[in-house]
Amino acid sequence: MHVETAIVPSHVAVIMDGNGRWARARGKPRHSGHRAGVKSVRETVEAAAERGVQILTLFAFSSENWGRPEDEVSSLMRLFVEALRREVAELHRNNVRLRFIGALDQLSDGLQAKMADAVEKTAQNTGLTLNIAVAYGGRWDIANAARKLAGKAVAGEIDVDAIDADALSGELQLAGLPDADLLIRTGGEQRISNFLLWHLAYAELWFTDVLWPEFDKAEFARALAHFAGKQRRFGQTGDQVEAAKC
Ligand code: IPE
Ligand code: IPE
Ligand code: MG
Repeated sequence: MHVETAIVPSHVAVIMDGNGRWARARGKPRHSGHRAGVKSVRETVEAAAERGVQILTLFAFSSENWGRPEDEVSSLMRLFVEALRREVAELHRNNVRLRFIGALDQLSDGLQAKMADAVEKTAQNTGLTLNIAVAYGGRWDIANAARKLAGKAVAGEIDVDAIDADALSGELQLAGLPDADLLIRTGGEQRISNFLLWHLAYAELWFTDVLWPEFDKAEFARALAHFAGKQRRFGQTGDQVEAAKC
């Protein structure tokens, strides 16, 4: 059977999991796994840009991760500040446009300021769009969007009948960007863990046992190869998809 030829996914989403297990296997504290994971982020951003991916969305910290031990949360927050300090200039040189999604007001003022600076500095870049999800939850995102629409309806700005999937999409954190085409999750678990619930509706899913600190360009290439072999039918029949190509 002939397969879909839109070979490179426009939007790749990644659940970067397995840092803690990577560290434990080496007899090190969990934090060293998170630190080691920064290198994989760098490599994945490079790989995505090289392969012509337009949007990369990375899950760095979930709304549920606030429930981890306090010392792990605070060391992660320090790591985010440090990574921003170290990486933003290079991202900018590489024409990457950086954005953050999530309940950013839950973060420290210092971290929020660094994020805002990085977003502003890279706003005009035209290469890869890199979204980093911090304090993000898919349910939070959808509930937020619903609340905004309800507010508009109550204020008489929109009609209740105008609330449909497109309207809701337009209020989500990634409004204006296409849905995720491919989800990669490292660390061996096959679940979504409250990541982009809305945007993953028709994503191809790629789960690998590789732990995040060991994820590299070769692994990224494997995920893209899996994607390239898929026929994306979006509810239609395979024959319909084939016919639409001619
Ligand atoms: C993912 O790695 C990073 C974050 C959730 C911040 P984990 O810390 O979840 O690593 P494991 O799953 O315990 O190995
Ligand atoms: C998902 O990983 C969140 C991030 C990678 C940031 P978790 O380690 O928090 O997911 P669960 O708890 O195993 O589902
Ligand atoms: Mg985990």
